[in-house]
Amino acid sequence: MGFILAAIGSAVGLGNIWRFSYLCYENGGGAFLIPYFTALFVVGIPLMILELGIGHRMRGSAPMAMATVNRRWEWLGWFAVLIVMYGIMLYYSTVIAWCLNYVFFSFNLAWGDDPNSYFFKEFLQMAEKPFDMGDVRMPILTSLAAIWFFSWLIVFFGIQKGVELANKIFMPLLLSLILILVFWSVSLEGAGKGIAVYLKPDFSKLGQRKIWIDAFSQIFFTLSLGFGIMIAYASYLPKKVDIVKDALIISLGNSAFSFIAGFAVFGTLGYMSHATNQPITEVVSETIGLAFVSYPKAISLMPAFSNVFGVVFFAMLVIAGLSSGISILEAFSSALIDKFGYNRGGVVTFVCITGLAGSVVFTTKSGLIWLDIADHFITHYGLMIIGILQCIVVAWIYKASKLRKHINSVAPPLLSSIWDTCVMYVTPLVLTALIVNDLITELKAPYGGYDLSGVLLIGPVWMVVILIASLFISNYPWKKELQDNHH
Ligand code: ALA
Repeated sequence: MGFILAAIGSAVGLGNIWRFSYLCYENGGGAFLIPYFTALFVVGIPLMILELGIGHRMRGSAPMAMATVNRRWEWLGWFAVLIVMYGIMLYYSTVIAWCLNYVFFSFNLAWGDDPNSYFFKEFLQMAEKPFDMGDVRMPILTSLAAIWFFSWLIVFFGIQKGVELANKIFMPLLLSLILILVFWSVSLEGAGKGIAVYLKPDFSKLGQRKIWIDAFSQIFFTLSLGFGIMIAYASYLPKKVDIVKDALIISLGNSAFSFIAGFAVFGTLGYMSHATNQPITEVVSETIGLAFVSYPKAISLMPAFSNVFGVVFFAMLVIAGLSSGISILEAFSSALIDKFGYNRGGVVTFVCITGLAGSVVFTTKSGLIWLDIADHFITHYGLMIIGILQCIVVAWIYKASKLRKHINSVAPPLLSSIWDTCVMYVTPLVLTALIVNDLITELKAPYGGYDLSGVLLIGPVWMVVILIASLFISNYPWKKELQDNHH
């Protein structure tokens, strides 16, 4: 139970509310749901079983699990935990910080009538180019420091019970609040128009490359796959455990959450489009901030107690974000501890200080642009490449059939050999095809129309630096002995 909660706590986060909603919006609403659910079944669930299975079998963090299969692949585990820690976590913590700012803005509904311009112009004071950083936005930096401090506190004291308890209380609460917001949003005038955009599949959009790659990379992000987290968490599971059932609960529960949250977003957008007489896809200018526009709008429109509602809602988002953020810190810290035998306190403090320092760039006026570029490259290439390579290491080198036998030996033997075919061929081939297609688009013009130098530095260069660091770390010997994987 504790494991399921921690895994769901890691999966359910800002990705379900913030990232899912803007991807849906950018990709024409209902059109996005088809590739999204396809990705869940073709890649999400099979890889979830693979990560939980190998973590349970090898009993260690991602680098340790990879190294146990084959020493030459240890770097892959490091690449996963490093890119997530010094990539995703840097901007993820900034988005949690925005939520914390919004807790305070909710007291007097500071966003007023126009949450769109409030968010982009007043709050972020968004610049136009990656290197037009201007100065740091102090309100964001302050809450960012608070977020890193809380994360440090929780992971430092290893308050497993605390995190578990928080997840147990806050997740159902967050779900109830979303349901209330959904209820209000769909009853607004014009909401039906928004919901129709959300639910109506647009088959003509399925021919676009972007929608597929966005959906598959979102599945990695939202399920925390390729993060090294599920591997590490599964290593704490008891000997007898039903991995397939757990993988299904985590994956389906997480996607159900996103799907429900989408109604609140699109219901409100429908209302806004009705009120302003604009088409739905024109209501919000810069899509990444969508959640910070549509939820505040919905909150303002609540008939009573809107500020209380706003405070509670954004506080829940902070908690959902923290519980995912903590899992990222934990995956990286436990890998360092296994590898070098350092003490936990020192490692966690080091990780949090460097993390805070690294995330400062996202609090500048060009922070949103940095976020956009970093997120694009890490999720589209980083996570998916990790996914492909994990299939090679686990399904080919270790052998899918051997892992399946292990999974079936500790629980009712439910996993059929279809899974082997999936993780050996289908998953890696689909991912490879997507990446190749994405690269073709990439080479045509710099991502997002930004300056080429900015795109290169924040995207590929950053990832190469992390790759070099991963190769470097894997050269050191293990403090903790690796288990022999042959018995
Ligand atoms: N899986 C986490 C989320 O969706 C990172 O927010």
